[in-house]
Amino acid sequence: MDIVIVGTGNVAHCFGQLLKMHGHQIKQVVSRNKEHARELGEMLHAPFTDDILDINMEADVYLLAVSDAAIPELDDQLRLGKRIVAHTAGAVPMSAISRISTNTGVIYPLQSIRKEIKTYPPIPVMLEAANDDVLRRLQPLAQSIASRIEITDSAQRLRYHLTAVLCNNFTNHLIVQAKAYCEKHGLDFTLLQPIIHETFERLEKYAPESVQTGPALRQDEATMNKHLELLANEEYLQLVYRVMSDSIYQFHNK
Ligand SMILES: NC(=O)c1ccc[n+]([C@@H]2O[C@H](COP(=O)([O-])OP(=O)(O)OC[C@H]3O[C@@H](n4cnc5c(N)ncnc54)[C@H](OP(=O)(O)O)[C@@H]3O)[C@@H](O)[C@H]2O)c1
Repeated sequence: MDIVIVGTGNVAHCFGQLLKMHGHQIKQVVSRNKEHARELGEMLHAPFTDDILDINMEADVYLLAVSDAAIPELDDQLRLGKRIVAHTAGAVPMSAISRISTNTGVIYPLQSIRKEIKTYPPIPVMLEAANDDVLRRLQPLAQSIASRIEITDSAQRLRYHLTAVLCNNFTNHLIVQAKAYCEKHGLDFTLLQPIIHETFERLEKYAPESVQTGPALRQDEATMNKHLELLANEEYLQLVYRVMSDSIYQFHNK
């Protein structure tokens, strides 16, 4: 299929490369930034433009891989009639692009994607379409990207997006905090790498609730108080510690 990609960030790079690898043609790359358009255009051997009004009108599918906040702006600017257009956001309803075209869809990758990645991890894709015809047309594209495809509506996709934030963004942030704490107190963060590795590897084999450990689960008040004292000058982290400990206890004692 012939594809126009709007956007040049993480998802645009990933989708562009995977689609091309699976034999689809990238007809054009569109970005507000000429240099970004050139970089991705050259990588995909595709024409590029920094003017949305120069968008190629002869593609089969238009992929809007732009920031969530830019989607309403495109809905104001872009008119594609009945051409198939899909965005890639988890937390934006499909209706947000309904003025661009009558044939809308969403191809949302439930994965953390960075353009620097050379080998892409498995990518489950949440697929949504305004009608059966759009679904039939988007499916082969989704198959080029996905390790697995799930048909969802916008409400369900938002719920998946929330769970992805919990699993990836929040977990990563806790590790960021642990690393910053190590640096502040002269500790060697690399000593924590085996426990980080073990935490994630275990989840391949066991249900997460069955492998929960730690002072909050045991209600070991003495240890928790020692930790909270260590965090006396780190207001936010102390709050996070309290909320997480409470959440662990409540979950396992409900
Ligand atoms: N990365 C992920 O892990 C991931 C996973 C699932 C879904 N998504 C979704 O996929 C979409 C793209 O994410 P991303 O990670 O690829 O973002 P990104 O790397 O930050 O790239 C965002 C792109 O949007 C463009 N943009 C931003 N504001 C714009 C505006 N006002 N008008 C036109 N273009 C604008 C940027 O252009 P410039 O280059 O000019 O700044 C850039 O090309 C988002 O909806 C995101 O929620 C991302």
